[in-house]
Amino acid sequence: MSLHVEEQDDRVVATLDRPEKRNAIDHETIAALHDLCALLETAPRTLILTGSNGVFAAGADIGQLRDRTSADARRGINTRAFIRIHDLPMPVIAAIDGYALGGGAELAYAADIRIGTPSLRIGNPEPGLGIIAAAGATWRLPEIVGDARASELLLTGRALHAEEALRWGLVSSLHPADELLPAAHAIADRIAANDALATRHTKSALRAPSARHPEIELELQAELFDSPEKHRRMTAFLEKRR
Ligand code: COA
Repeated sequence: MSLHVEEQDDRVVATLDRPEKRNAIDHETIAALHDLCALLETAPRTLILTGSNGVFAAGADIGQLRDRTSADARRGINTRAFIRIHDLPMPVIAAIDGYALGGGAELAYAADIRIGTPSLRIGNPEPGLGIIAAAGATWRLPEIVGDARASELLLTGRALHAEEALRWGLVSSLHPADELLPAAHAIADRIAANDALATRHTKSALRAPSARHPEIELELQAELFDSPEKHRRMTAFLEKRR
C-alpha cells in the first residue's frame, strides 16, 4: 500500500509510503488519493498529508511517466487528483520532510498550509526531464510565492533548501524531523477548536475568484449569522466575561 490513511474524529493523517521509490507518485498512489478525497468529501475533516523515511515525495513515478502519451497528458492524471485535494472542504496541512520534487512539490502546493523540516528540498525539475510541471506548479506557485520567484524556480528547475523555502513563505515554519508531525497536529488542534462550518466557509472565501468578492463572503456570513453555533459561541464568550 503506497498511502496509509489513519482516521480520527476530527482529522485524517495520510502518509505516503513507497520507500523503495522515494514515495514517487504512481497510479496506485493516485487511486488512493482519490479514495482519500472521496472519504473527506463525504465526512469533511482536516487532512494532514505527510511522507515517510525522511522523504515527502520524489515526484511522479518516472517509470510510469516515461510511457505516458499525449492522451494521458490530456487526462491530467496527477493534475485532477491534486485539484481534488486542493478543493477539499476542510484544511489540508502538508508536513514535508526531505524531498518534495516535481509532482511531490505540486502535491504540497495543493495544501492550504505547509510546514517542513531543515532537510526539506522542494522544487520542480520537470524541464530537465523534457516535460512541464502541469499538476499545479505554474498556477499555484505564483499565488504562494509571487510571479518572480515562481518563474525563477520553475524556469531553472532548481530545488529550494528549507531556509529559503521558509523565507519565501513556501512553508510557514520549520521543525526538527521528530517534531514535524506533532507540529502538524498542533495546527489541526487549533482548527478543531474553531467552528467547522466557519472554517469551511473561510476556505471557500479564500478560494473564490476575485470577481466574486465580497458577495461570496456576505452569503457565507449570512448562513453563519443564523447558525445556532455562532450564537452559542458568542454567548459563551460574553458569559465568561461577566
Ligand atoms: N520516479 C520513479 N522512481 C524514483 C523517483 C521517481 N520520481 N525518484 C526516485 N526513484 C527511485 C530510484 O529510481 C531508485 O530506484 P532503484 O532503487 O530501483 O534504482 C530509488 O527510487 C531510490 O532513488 P535514489 O536516486 O537512489 O535515492 P537518493 O536518495 O540517492 O536520491 C532523489 C533521491 C529524490 C534526489 C533522486 O531519487 C531523484 O532525483 N529522483 C527524481 C526526482 C525528479 O526528477 N522528480 C520529478 C519527477 S516529475
